[in-house]
Amino acid sequence: MGERETRRFWPDIHEVASPVYSDAENRTWATLLSSQRSLLPGRACREFLAGIERLDFPDDEIPRLADISDRIEACTGWRLRRVDGVVPDGEFFEMLAQRLFPSTDYIRRQEDIGYTPAPDIFHELLGHAPLLTDARFAAFFQRMGEAAVEAAARGHPARDLLPHLYWYSVEFGLIRTRDGLRIYGSGILSSPDEVLYCLSGQPTVLPFDMAAVAATPYDIWHMQETLFAIDSFAWLEEAFAEWCRAVGLE
Ligand SMILES: [Fe+2]
Repeated sequence: MGERETRRFWPDIHEVASPVYSDAENRTWATLLSSQRSLLPGRACREFLAGIERLDFPDDEIPRLADISDRIEACTGWRLRRVDGVVPDGEFFEMLAQRLFPSTDYIRRQEDIGYTPAPDIFHELLGHAPLLTDARFAAFFQRMGEAAVEAAARGHPARDLLPHLYWYSVEFGLIRTRDGLRIYGSGILSSPDEVLYCLSGQPTVLPFDMAAVAATPYDIWHMQETLFAIDSFAWLEEAFAEWCRAVGLE
C-alpha cells in the first residue's frame, strides 16, 4: 500500500474534524496527565521525558490530534492519522513504514483510568507520541514497519514474530541506564497502575535478546510477568537490524 492508498483510508489529520469533548472527558485527561507527570520523572527514560517537554500537552483539555501531529512532524517527520480503534497488524505496520502513527481520538471511561487495554487518546499521545519526537527511536520504529511490510509481502514467517518484538519494546519496553532501570514502553507509561507495577520488582526483567523476545507470546489483558530491558536505543536499532539480517529480511 503506497502513500496514495494510505491517504484514501486515513486522510490527513488536518482533514478530520476533532471531536468536541465533554467536561468529564477533559477531566479524565487532566487527572491522567497530572498523575503521570508526577509519576514519570525518575521512572521514564530521559528520551521520553524530553519528548513530553517538546509536545507541551495542555493540562486540562484533550489536545487536537492535528496540533500534536504538527509538533511531532517538526521533530522527526512522523505524523498522526486518526483511526477508529485497533488497526489490523498489516495496516498498522504499513503505516509505520511511512512514518504514520495511527491514533484514536476517544478517551477511556473514568472507571478504566488505571489501565485500558483498548488504546485511547491518552495512551496514543502520552504513551507513544513523546518517543516519536526522538530521532533514534523514530528510525527504529520505521524500520520495524518496513521489515513487517517486507515479511508480509514475501509470506515470511517473521510476520508472526514482529508483533512480539513490537509488544515487548514499543509497548512494554524497559531500558537500563546509569541511574537504574527506566521505562520507555507506551503501554506502561500511559497507565498509572503499570508504571508502579513494572518497577516494583514483581515482574521478571530479562535482557532483550531479539530471538528470545520474538518467540515470546503476550497477553494484553493481564500485567506482564516478564519484561525485557534494552541498553540503549542505539543498541535497539542495531540489534533489530541484525535480527532482520539473521532471519533473512533486509
Ligand atoms: Fe500502543
